[in-house]
Amino acid sequence: MTNSNWTASTSPQQQNLRALAEKTLINNDLGGYTVPTHGLYPFQWNWDSAITALGWMQFDEQRAWQELEILFSGQWPDGMVPHILFHKDSDSYFPGPVVWGADKPIKSTSISQPPVVGSVMKIMLEQAKDPHFAREKATTLFNKLVDYHLWWYQQRDPEETGLVVTYHPWESGMDNSPAWDDALQAVPCVTWSYERRDTKHVDSAQRPHKSEYDRFLYLVDFFKQHQFDSKRIFAQCPYKMNDIGIIAILHRASKDLLIMSEMLQMQDERTEYIAKRMEVTQQAISALWCEKDHYFYSRNVLTNQLVAVKTSAGLLSLYAGFASATQKTSLNKTSIEWLQASQFSLASTHPSASCYEPQRYWRGPIWLHINWMIALGLEESGYQDTAKSIQNDSRELIKLAGFYEYFNPETGAGCGGKDFSWTAAIAMHWLL
Ligand code: DGY
Repeated sequence: MTNSNWTASTSPQQQNLRALAEKTLINNDLGGYTVPTHGLYPFQWNWDSAITALGWMQFDEQRAWQELEILFSGQWPDGMVPHILFHKDSDSYFPGPVVWGADKPIKSTSISQPPVVGSVMKIMLEQAKDPHFAREKATTLFNKLVDYHLWWYQQRDPEETGLVVTYHPWESGMDNSPAWDDALQAVPCVTWSYERRDTKHVDSAQRPHKSEYDRFLYLVDFFKQHQFDSKRIFAQCPYKMNDIGIIAILHRASKDLLIMSEMLQMQDERTEYIAKRMEVTQQAISALWCEKDHYFYSRNVLTNQLVAVKTSAGLLSLYAGFASATQKTSLNKTSIEWLQASQFSLASTHPSASCYEPQRYWRGPIWLHINWMIALGLEESGYQDTAKSIQNDSRELIKLAGFYEYFNPETGAGCGGKDFSWTAAIAMHWLL
């Protein structure tokens, strides 16, 4: 935990960082959508794009809404918004559109990503300097957003258990989180050879291992072989996870969707249905609470086992508003102790875990958009001081290292891609 003496007033350093953040988004703009960073990620990613819109919102509202419009232009007929939209060709990324083999309506992957877009849209509607324009845009996008949420509830929880399933670590957005290790062991490896491109852009010590990629790619092939058929994949996928991160982000976004439906006067039987499904989730969430560890975990659906490794995804339960009063107290205590366990916070895997690796992608590094969501959840639960500590550390990190993809909790060093869109966007939205 660090002590920041950053004040609320706009210092020259703050102005400078803000200008750099704007420049980062402008440089990453490919004409209406923003790449997370050039080279490493040359397409439009679902949750990156949503978070990035919060940054655009600070200086170009029209461009912010355009980001979401282009994201929804890739929505599948069944409502899914894919995790990557391959708008233009690029050979700097693997696996590209040929490996995924999907194009309905445009070339894309065949899985989704954490659906934070609904929550972003609500913030954009509430914070707009041009409310008339924002209302017009939100009204146009609202039914697409409803289709997307219905897709999660109906296709990813067809038995109405209350807990949606995810089929791929890439879908969680937290690709190589140790929470997926055991479940991935049950997935076969691909037998064809391939050339990774990510490790040409970033030190391989900061990226997932080949043993993970072999299985990531097996699943990509599996979806293609099953012709992207929801029913067949639900029945046969060798990897099925109740990911607490996605479940929490979906729940929060559904709440925000319902608030927007009132603001826009667009309530109907579909929004009522979403409200009903949310009640089922609220009832079911206790299945992911571990009474022994006082923590929310993901669950491997195929073994029915909770994955008892403390990752930051469990703290998103506060952001979702799932936790009871006693659970909130425990989660705040855990957060304080987590903050003290490394120089900077909040490590994506608890530093005391044996699988903690401070610079390997989702196995330890700090991600600022996750910090923002966790701090928001803590603040709304009444833990302002803990939230402030996370915010101060986040600020310190961008001051020290700039807009990196993720940060080493021990040293504060920037890791992964640099000049990263969502880090710059979160800086503008939350830190500067
Ligand atoms: C990657 O390629 O590392 C991305 O995180 C997949 O979404």
